[in-house]
Amino acid sequence: MKRDVIIACDFPSAEKTYEFLDKFTEEKPFVKIGMELFYGAGPEIVREIKKRGHKIFLDLKLHDIPNTVKKSMSVLSGLDVDICNLHAAGGVEMMKWAIEGLTRPDGTRPLLIAVTQLTSTSQEMMENELLINKPLDEVVMHYALNAKTAGLDGVVCSPLEASKVHQVCGDEFLTVTPGIRFADGEIGDQHRVTTPEKAKEIGSDFIVVGRPITAAEDPVSAYRRCMNEFV
Ligand code: C5P
Repeated sequence: MKRDVIIACDFPSAEKTYEFLDKFTEEKPFVKIGMELFYGAGPEIVREIKKRGHKIFLDLKLHDIPNTVKKSMSVLSGLDVDICNLHAAGGVEMMKWAIEGLTRPDGTRPLLIAVTQLTSTSQEMMENELLINKPLDEVVMHYALNAKTAGLDGVVCSPLEASKVHQVCGDEFLTVTPGIRFADGEIGDQHRVTTPEKAKEIGSDFIVVGRPITAAEDPVSAYRRCMNEFV
């Protein structure tokens, strides 16, 4: 899949989401549907947005025993999403079973990417609560390699980690990166942010952009600005 901008549709309801997507009359942006919208609106929202012609990254971050993840992935694959994800912390076996579940009878499947360590996890929290006594970036790269070993297509990571992930896991291994802000935009609650242009330079394959587009006065021109800088 070629480099693209994915809009994080973090809206509380299907109505709000359609109202937002209706603004795009000329293009069909790639969209990310997260837990809030999926749990609130149900699988129908995925079918409807797909029917409207958008590609979908379904961001549900599965993490359970291999058999449960495999069976759940099989359901998601039937929804015809383009990308879905899981927690690499579930282990290599869980990730392998996930791919089996995702693979359709004709051999096709959505792309599968892994969350390594959440960006909300600090070094201190990892050591004190999870009892992992390694540098955070070493843990992130190790989880990325585990994902690669299991046959996954890439990871969600900070754009600032994208080039290191490519060095460790190869150029073909996808990096999907949130934490994007325009040079003249508000940062909000994100910490380590970068611009679409810089993310392209570092080697992100997909950027996930929420509020810089969804909260913009003119979301369509904000989206076009992202596309111009990144693609
Ligand atoms: O509005 P904003 O651009 O900050 O949205 C970023 C999106 O990416 C949100 O949906 C957020 O949950 C998601 N995300 C993130 N950082 C991660 C993983 C996902 O910001 N490490």
